[in-house]
Parts: sequence; structure tokens; C-alpha cells
Amino acid sequence: MIFYFTGTGNSLFAAQKLAEEGEEIISIVEALRSKTFSYVLKENEKLGFVFPVYFYTVSDPVLEFVRKLTVENAGFVYAVIPCGASIGAAGGFLKSELKKRGLELQRVDALVVPDGALLFYDIDSPEKMEQQLEAAEKELATIRQAIDRREGNDIRGSAQAGMIGLAGYHAFMGTKAFYADEKCIGCGKCASICPAGAIEMAEGRPAWTKKKCFKCCGCINRCPVSAIQYGKKTAERGRYVNPVLK
Ligand SMILES: Cc1cc2nc3c(=O)[nH]c(=O)nc-3n(C[C@H](O)[C@H](O)[C@H](O)COP(=O)(O)O)c2cc1C
Repeated sequence: MIFYFTGTGNSLFAAQKLAEEGEEIISIVEALRSKTFSYVLKENEKLGFVFPVYFYTVSDPVLEFVRKLTVENAGFVYAVIPCGASIGAAGGFLKSELKKRGLELQRVDALVVPDGALLFYDIDSPEKMEQQLEAAEKELATIRQAIDRREGNDIRGSAQAGMIGLAGYHAFMGTKAFYADEKCIGCGKCASICPAGAIEMAEGRPAWTKKKCFKCCGCINRCPVSAIQYGKKTAERGRYVNPVLK
């Protein structure tokens, strides 16, 4: 069983590449919405967590889910964490949180992927992103073999460092700077995909009705007409969506 969270699709892409035929891939957002926190695996089944690193740590939706999670029969427990450059303390922090739920995290892999964190910087060139995605696919095949062999690794990062990252993340979750520009066609896609449920359509336009969101960048990157902006810089920037969400 694999649990995933995604904003721009990289984590779903990774989860799909890691899954064996017939293995369940479960959306953390849907599990939170339906309040489904108890799972029974087949004897000794592998359990995976795949989610993007935010602020070098584990983001709120993943943490909330893990803190309520009960899993029976988990065999090998692993995480694959897509990132732009480095996962910082996310692995060690996740390990300490899973331990509190009686689960022992044995392997963590960082996976460098094309990064659509437009709130901070522009995307890379299409050529570079294509190369990164190809490299990520190869890396995932290697990781999958290691997981099949149930090979553990050295998991870096402390819970304390994870909490420091979380403080930075929490200070950054405000939605005030989001808006839809004149290109908006009122399709409502942003409202339907927002994992935080922070967007509602009002008179054919998106309105950010919650003060905070997960900052997953899904709305900005997945808008079909690139109408969603954040402050002054995103209008000039490109957009990135992993092909699995196209
Ligand atoms: C709010 C935010 C914070 C991020 N922080 C980090 C980080 O600390 N280190 C890093 O390497 N990448 C960081 N990233 C990049 C993401 O991990 C990367 O875009 C990831 O592929 C997104 O996965 P997804 O497509 O499954 O949403 C951040 C992205 C966002 C949106």
C-alpha cells in the first residue's frame, strides 16, 4: 500500500512507478476528507509514503494523516520524497512521527524532480525538466529494486530540525497574495483540485476563502490558461505539471 500527497503530480508519478501490479495507491487528501485512518495490510506487505518536501520538512496534510494513522501488518516501511534539491530533515522527522504510531520507517529516498514551486522561483527549461524526469524515472526503478529487497538505509534529519522547518512553513501558508488575472475563464478547476479546499468559485471567479492553504502550487501550475498568480512575480514565470496529471 502506498499513501501519497501531491500538488503538481510528481509524487503521484513516483507512487505509480513504485507500485506493484494491483497495489493500492491511496490519496492522503481523500483519506483526510473521508477520515479513513485505519488500514489492515496483507501479512508483511510493504507500506510506502510518497510526498513532496516543503521547507525541508513534512508538510501539514501528511503530518496530520500520519499522526492519526493506524496500520496493521506493515512489513517494510519506506518513503520516497520528491524535491527540487534536498529533503533536509523530512526523513528523520517522518521516522520519529511514524514511530509514535508503532511503525518503523526503514528506508527514505530523496527524488530530484522538475520543480514547479513558482512562489519562490521560475521553472527550468523544458529540456532540463525532461532530462530530470527521465533521470527520476531511472532512479525510481533502482529504488523499487532496493525496496523489493527490503534494503534499509541511513535516514537523516532530526525531529527538532523538522519542527524548525515546520515553523517556517506555517509562517508561509497565507493565501492573501493569490488572485486570478483577466485570463481566467471561470472553469473552476482550481477550486476542484485544491487539496486544502481553500478556493471557492464566486460569480464565475476563484476566491480564496481560507486564510491558509498547503502552498502546493497545484492551482497556479494546473490552471488551463495560466491565470492564477501569486504576488507580482508569477505572471512572468512558466508553469509545470507532471504528465500524470495532464
Ligand atoms: C511550498 C513549497 C516548499 C518547498 N520546499 C522545498 C524544499 O525545502 N526543498 C526542496 O528541495 N524542494 C522544495 N520544494 C519543491 C517540491 O518538493 C517539488 O516541487 C516537488 O516535486 C513537488 O511535488 P508534487 O509535484 O508531488 O507536488 C518546495 C515546493 C513548495 C511548493
